[in-house]
Amino acid sequence: MLTTVTISLVLSAFAGVLSEEKFRFSSYYGNHMVLQKAPAEAVVWGYGQKGATVVVSLSETYKISTTVINGIWRATLKPVEAGGPYNLTASQSITNSSITLTDILFGDAWLCSGQSNMAFTVGQVINATEELALASKYTDVRIFQAALEQSEEELTDLARVAIPWSRPTAKLLDGKELSHFSAVCWLFGRYLYETLKYPIGLVHSSFGGTPVEAWSSPRALKKCGLMDSVPHSDFFVQRNLSENVSDKRNNSVLWNAMIHPFLNMTITGAIWYQGEDNAIYNRDKYNCSFPMMIDDWRMAFHKGSGGQTAPDFPFGFVQLSTNHKNNSQDGFREIRWHQTADYGFAPNARMKNTFMAVAIDVPDEKSPYGSIHPEDKQDVAYRLVLGARAVAYGEKNVSFQGPFPTQAVLEQDFISIVFNQSINAIPDEGNFFEICCSEDKTCESDDKWLHVPIEKCGVDYVLVSKPQCPVANITAVRYLWTDWPCNFKACPIYSSDGLLPAPPFILAITKQWPIKV
Ligand SMILES: *[C@@H]1O[C@H](CO)[C@@H](O)[C@H](O)[C@H]1NC(C)=O
Ligand SMILES: *[C@@H]1O[C@H](CO)[C@@H](O)[C@H](O)[C@H]1NC(C)=O
Ligand SMILES: *[C@@H]1O[C@H](CO)[C@@H](O)[C@H](O)[C@H]1NC(C)=O
Ligand SMILES: *[C@@H]1O[C@H](CO)[C@@H](O)[C@H](O)[C@H]1NC(C)=O
Ligand SMILES: *[C@@H]1O[C@H](CO)[C@@H](O)[C@H](O)[C@H]1NC(C)=O
Ligand SMILES: *[C@@H]1O[C@H](CO)[C@@H](O)[C@H](O)[C@H]1NC(C)=O
Ligand SMILES: *[C@@H]1O[C@H](CO)[C@@H](O)[C@H](O)[C@H]1NC(C)=O
Ligand SMILES: *[C@@H]1O[C@H](CO)[C@@H](O)[C@H](O)[C@H]1NC(C)=O
Ligand SMILES: *[C@@H]1O[C@H](CO)[C@@H](O)[C@H](O)[C@H]1NC(C)=O
Ligand SMILES: *[C@@H]1O[C@H](CO)[C@@H](O)[C@H](O)[C@H]1NC(C)=O
Ligand SMILES: *[C@@H]1O[C@H](CO)[C@@H](O)[C@H](O)[C@H]1NC(C)=O
Ligand SMILES: *[C@@H]1O[C@H](CO)[C@@H](O)[C@H](O)[C@H]1NC(C)=O
Repeated sequence: MLTTVTISLVLSAFAGVLSEEKFRFSSYYGNHMVLQKAPAEAVVWGYGQKGATVVVSLSETYKISTTVINGIWRATLKPVEAGGPYNLTASQSITNSSITLTDILFGDAWLCSGQSNMAFTVGQVINATEELALASKYTDVRIFQAALEQSEEELTDLARVAIPWSRPTAKLLDGKELSHFSAVCWLFGRYLYETLKYPIGLVHSSFGGTPVEAWSSPRALKKCGLMDSVPHSDFFVQRNLSENVSDKRNNSVLWNAMIHPFLNMTITGAIWYQGEDNAIYNRDKYNCSFPMMIDDWRMAFHKGSGGQTAPDFPFGFVQLSTNHKNNSQDGFREIRWHQTADYGFAPNARMKNTFMAVAIDVPDEKSPYGSIHPEDKQDVAYRLVLGARAVAYGEKNVSFQGPFPTQAVLEQDFISIVFNQSINAIPDEGNFFEICCSEDKTCESDDKWLHVPIEKCGVDYVLVSKPQCPVANITAVRYLWTDWPCNFKACPIYSSDGLLPAPPFILAITKQWPIKV
C-alpha cells in the first residue's frame, strides 16, 4: 500500500517535470559550434513545452517550424555550404521564449572516441608548448567534450558536458587532467583544417581504461556472443589515469551515456584510439567486436540523424602502439591484428571505408604517463589525416598505407617477401622477422617461430634467411609480432618516402622455386 503511494507520487512529479521542460537546446548545441555542412543537412534539437510550436531560423535566411512532441523538438536545417558565422535562433510559441546561439560555423563534424590514448591531452604531448601556442590561431577548428559518464540505460542527452563548444585556447587544451582536450582529436582537426581550409568541429567523447564492450550497444554485443561478459573487478587497476574505475567497463555503459546522445547529430565521420583494455579482456573476440561496433555506430548515426549521416561514414582508427618492452605475451600483437579484422590492413573487405594509423614505431619508454601512453601524438594524428584525406575525402594521390606483402616465397637460398609498393628498408640481424617451423599449420606455439635476419633489401622486396628447419615444415612468416619490436621510428621497412611503416603481418609461405625476384 505504502509502496504504491510512493510510486505514484514519484511518477506524477516526473510527469510534471517533463511537461514543463525548460525551453532549450540539447546539451551539445551551443555558441561557437560547427554544424555539418552541405551536402548533408544538420539536425538540431532541444526541449520545449508540450504542444508548443518551435521556429528555428538561421541568421534570418530561412525559418523552419516544428512541434514539441514528448518534450522534444527537432529540426533538420537546409544544406549550408562551409563557412559562417551564423546565428541560430529557436523561438517557442506559448511562452514566447527565444534562444539565439551565436558564432555558428558550418564545416565537417568529426567524433573522436576511445580510451586513454584518445583522452591524452594536448598539454601532455611532446612539444606541448609549441602546440598550445599555435592553438588559438585555429579559430575555425572548434572543440566540444563530453564528460565522463556511464549509464545502464540509453540516454537521450549527455548527463554532463566537460567542455562546451569553444574556440580553441591554450587553456582548454593544456593541463594534464583528462578534463582537458584530446591531443589526437585536436591534432587530427588541426591538420585536417590545413588541407580542407574550412571549419572543423571536433566532438570528443572518450574514457580511459575502457574496453570496446562498454562502447558497444547490446545489439552489437549480441552478434559477437558477448552479451553476458562481465569485466573482472581487479581488471586494469594499475592503468587508471586518475579517474573513477567503478563500472565504466560494463557492457554498453559508455555507448549509453557517451555515444547514444549524439546519434541525432549529423557527422562526417569518427576516429578511434582504443584496444589496450581488450588486450586482456575478450581479446579473441576483438576481430568481431570492433568491426561490429563500427557497423552498429554507422547504422545508428544514420538512423538517428534521419539519414543525414552516411550509413557507411568513414571511420579511422589507431593501431595500438606499444606497452611492455620485454613482453610479447601481453596481447598487443593479437589486438593489432584483430583491429584489422585479421586482414592486417584497412580498409578491407570486412571493414570498408575505414583507415588505420600504424603506431607500432612510436614507442615511448620514458613517457611520464607510463609507456602505454606515448607522448608523440603528432605522428599518429598525421597518419590518421592521410587516411582521412584518401578514404573520407577521396584524394586520389595521397598515400596513407605502409607497404603490405603480397607474397612470401621459399626459394633455394632465401625466403623472399614481396611488397605491393616500393620500400625503404634496411637489413638487420634477426629482430623483426620470424619463420614458423612446424608441421602444425596453425603454428600457435611461440617456440615454433624462429627469428631470421633480413639479408637483402630490394626495391619492393626483402630476402630473409632460411631457418634451420626441414623445408617441409617451413609454413609461415610473421613480422613485428611482439608488443614492442622497434625503437622510435626505427622499424626496418617503411614506404619509399620513409614516412609510413609496414604494419605487422602474418603470411603463409608458398614454395615454388626457382623464382625470379
Ligand atoms: C548574431 O547576433 C549577435 C547578437 O545577438 C549580433 O551582434 C551579430 O551581428 C549576429 N550575427 C549574425 C551573423 O547575424
Ligand atoms: C506571447 O506573445 C503574444 C503576442 O505578442 C501575446 O499575445 C501573448 O500574451 C504572449 N504570451 C506570453 C506567455 O507572454
Ligand atoms: C618536436 O619539436 C622538435 C623541434 O622543433 C622537432 O624536431 C620534432 O620533430 C618535434 N616532434 C614532434 C613529434 O612533432
Ligand atoms: C556492472 O556490472 C555489474 C556486474 O554485472 C553490476 O553489478 C553493476 O550494477 C553494473 N553497473 C552498471 C553501471 O551497469
Ligand atoms: C589509481 O586510482 C587509485 C584510486 O583512485 C589511486 O590511488 C592510484 O594512484 C591510481 N593509480 C594510477 C597509476 O594512476
Ligand atoms: C567512484 O564511484 C563509486 C561508485 O559510484 C563511488 O562510491 C566513489 O566515491 C567514486 N570515487 C571517486 C574517487 O570518485
Ligand atoms: C578471430 O580470432 C579468433 C582468435 O584468434 C579466431 O579463432 C577466429 O577465427 C577469428 N575470427 C574471425 C572472424 O576472423
Ligand atoms: C534520435 O534518433 C532516434 C532514432 O531515430 C530517435 O529514436 C530519438 O527520438 C531521437 N532523439 C531526438 C532527441 O531527436
Ligand atoms: C627490458 O629489459 C632490459 C634488459 O633486461 C631492461 O634494461 C629494460 O629496463 C626493460 N624495459 C622495460 C620497459 O621493462
Ligand atoms: C594531389 O593532387 C592535388 C591536385 O592535383 C595536389 O594539389 C596535391 O599537392 C597532391 N598531393 C600529393 C600528396 O601529391
Ligand atoms: C597494398 O595492399 C593493401 C592490401 O591489399 C591495399 O589495401 C593497399 O592499398 C596496397 N597499397 C598499394 C600502394 O598498392
Ligand atoms: C619437421 O617435419 C618432420 C617430418 O617431415 C618431423 O619429423 C619433424 O618433427 C618436424 N620438425 C619440426 C621442428 O617441427
